[in-house]
Order: sequence, then C-alpha cells, then structure tokens
Amino acid sequence: MPDETDAQLAAQYEALPYPARDPRDEAKRLIVGSPSNLAEVDHWVFGARRAAGLPMRALVAGGGTGDGAIMLAQQMAWAGRPGEVVWLDRSGAARKVAEARAAARGLLNIRFVEGSILDLPEMGVFDYVDCCGVLHHLPDPLAGLRGLSRVLAPGGGMGIMVYAPHGRTGVYMLQDALRMLAPVDEAPAARVDVAKRVMRHLPETAWLRKNPWITDHLPLPQGGGDPGLYDLLLNPRDVAFTVPALAALVEAAGLRISTLVEPVRYDPDPLLPDPRLRARTAGMGMVERAALAEALAGNMGIHIAYLARAEDAAVRADWEDPSAVPVLRGGDGASWAKGARGGSLAITFDGLRVVLPVPPLAAAVLSRVDGRATMAEIARAVEAGGAPAAQVARDMAALWRAMEPTNRVTLAAPGR
Ligand SMILES: C[S@@+](CC[C@H](N)C(=O)[O-])C[C@H]1O[C@@H](n2cnc3c(N)ncnc32)[C@H](O)[C@@H]1O
Repeated sequence: MPDETDAQLAAQYEALPYPARDPRDEAKRLIVGSPSNLAEVDHWVFGARRAAGLPMRALVAGGGTGDGAIMLAQQMAWAGRPGEVVWLDRSGAARKVAEARAAARGLLNIRFVEGSILDLPEMGVFDYVDCCGVLHHLPDPLAGLRGLSRVLAPGGGMGIMVYAPHGRTGVYMLQDALRMLAPVDEAPAARVDVAKRVMRHLPETAWLRKNPWITDHLPLPQGGGDPGLYDLLLNPRDVAFTVPALAALVEAAGLRISTLVEPVRYDPDPLLPDPRLRARTAGMGMVERAALAEALAGNMGIHIAYLARAEDAAVRADWEDPSAVPVLRGGDGASWAKGARGGSLAITFDGLRVVLPVPPLAAAVLSRVDGRATMAEIARAVEAGGAPAAQVARDMAALWRAMEPTNRVTLAAPGR
C-alpha cells in the first residue's frame, strides 16, 4: 500500500526524473545495458526459440526517463521486429523526457502509460516485463513483483534489477547521515544543496570515497547529476537484496530465476581455484553458490535477473542446433578471437578479472562469428581451415560452455 514514504518517492521522481537524460543526445548514441537488451531477452527469456517474426508485447514498468524502453524499442525497430513496448511510470516529468527521446528517434513502437505498479491499469498481458531499479523502492516489493507477474503471458519472462548490498558499501552510511542533516520532508532542492555541501567535505575515510563502483552521486557527465545524487543518497526508501533474499522474493511471487547476469559472476569456482575449496562448493545449490560468489567478490551493487513463471517449463538455448546463430557483444569476432588466443579468455567485471579456459580452436571459431553465420556454417569454415570435424565440434561445444555464462555471446531468435 502507498504510504507517506511512497508519496515522498513520487515527489522525488517528479522533481528529479531519473536518470538525467537530454533527448538531443539520442542523435549521438543509444544507451544499452541489462536487463532488456533484445539479444538477452531472445536468449535468456526465450531460449532463442521464439521466432523473430512473432509480435512481442513488452512492458517497462517504472520506465523512468526511458533507458530500457528506448533501448528495447529501438533494437526491435532496427531489427524489423513486430510488437510494442509499453512504458509505464507514475512520473509525468519522466514521461516528458522519455517521450521526447522516443520522438527524437522517430520510434513508433512505444506507448506511454502514466500509472502505478501498485495499481496496474488494464493493459492486457505481456510476453516480456522489465522492472529495472524499481522494486527496491516500493513499499512492498513482493506485492509489486506479484502484480507484474500477473500480467505475464504464459511462456513469458521478466528482466529485473535490484540493488545488492556489498557493492553499495558506503551508500547506506551516507543515507543515514543525510537523513539527519536534510530531513526527508524538506523540499528536494534544499536536500540536494545539503548533500552537495556534505560531498565537498566528505572525510577521506568515508567508505563511499573508497567505492569505485558507485558514481551516481558525481556531477554529469561522469556521474548522474542531481537526479543521481538524490536517487543514491537522499532516496526516501531503498532496500538491497542479497542473492538469497532475491531468490526468496522471486519464489514468493510465483516466479523462478532463469539466470542471474552475468552468470559467471555468480559462480564461486573461478574465485576458488584451491581444489579443497572446490570440493566444498561442489554440493551447493544454485542460490548458495551465487550467495558465496556475492560474498566473496564484494563488488556487486546490483543484481540483474531474468525470471520465468514457476509453472512454465524451463527453456534453455540449444547450442547444438546447427541452424542457431551466435551473436557476440562487447566486440566483433576478430577482437574476441584476439583475446582468446593462448587458451584463455580474460574478462573484467566491475574490477574483478575472471580468466576462463577456452579450447584450442576458440580463436578460429570466434573469428567467424558475425551475427549471421549459423553454427553449421561456422563449423564448416573452421574445418575448411584444416581442423578435423570431431575437434571442431568438441571445441565449439567447450567454447560456448565457457562463454555463455559471460553473457558476451547469445543465440539469436530463429528467423531473425
Ligand atoms: C530509479 S528509477 C528507474 C528508472 C528506469 N527503470 C531505469 O532503470 O532507468 C525508478 C522509477 O520507478 C518509478 N516508480 C516508483 N514507484 C512506482 C510506482 N509505484 N508505479 C510506477 N512507477 C513507479 C519512478 O517514478 C521512477 O521513474
């Protein structure tokens, strides 16, 4: 139920729509991220089994100034994918910014609905629901997630982001301090002024100064400007979820975690090369392993998860399908091939360098991944270079096994 704190939250996003965005920047770049990147939705939600030609209805709940909705709608438009993205938020100020961004891009596949997640307007059902950075602000995150799960079509999925505690070290201490200096019932502008003054003299021992992953409180363009500062340090309500707390929330909402992103970050084994320690992790379930990785790494400030309805059968991408098309991100085939020479691939996640063993033909395979070639075509091309078919098959399987958890390679929707 909405309460006094929720009214303050509503006032915050009216005064300081989040995140700070200038629609003129749409001419220069598309902001991409997780969740709701179309390639991720195709792969992690639909297991690369849902035809690209099927119309997709997506809801972006708590869409703010539009990052998720604009990304998804633009990627659908570029790929000629039918369907619509419904942006929902109760902030009229955020709507103005999001609408202007959509107009700047000439996007016709977004609909804007002003309304509350706590009392969802009638909008029909959705194949995909995004709720990024919103649940942790709600008076009752479980009620919010349950409400959203009810508008999910059978076989549909969700992409959510919630705060995580360890990577936010320093944030809650300063929230405590600022609540004393700038009480929550003061006007947003006055509170921002106080927070800026505090930041100017922040003791060098303050944990926030030592936390390199938190930048929202810094001035634009490297930080989030006033909306970022307010959202991070003056927010009237935010709670952080450890992996077990998130898993409990998801389960209570009648949902299931399909994957945490990036999956490799939630695997403790790369962090524990000692075989005696690996023996101890071997018997652990998915949530326990992820909780261990979270506690060991200490750098997770958010959790991104793709969810399915608990009653739906699990769908996984089929890497052995010869007609499947692998798609790389964070570089093209040539650059990934360069990184994979020498039997390992190093990827850094928020300061944490993970080195993954990859098979001998990894570079030869990756150099042929261009987002169009099928698995069969890639295999034939590598074989034409002189490698025996059995080794190509073995190495391709090992490469995808190593790389899928990095979220840097996904399988495209069929018929794309
Ligand atoms: C931190 S912003 C996140 C915006 C966007 N999802 C993103 O990740 O950039 C939170 C958004 O949730 C919206 N919000 C909070 N509670 C809401 C509710 N009950 N119903 C609809 N929107 C809500 C706020 O207005 C705000 O725009």
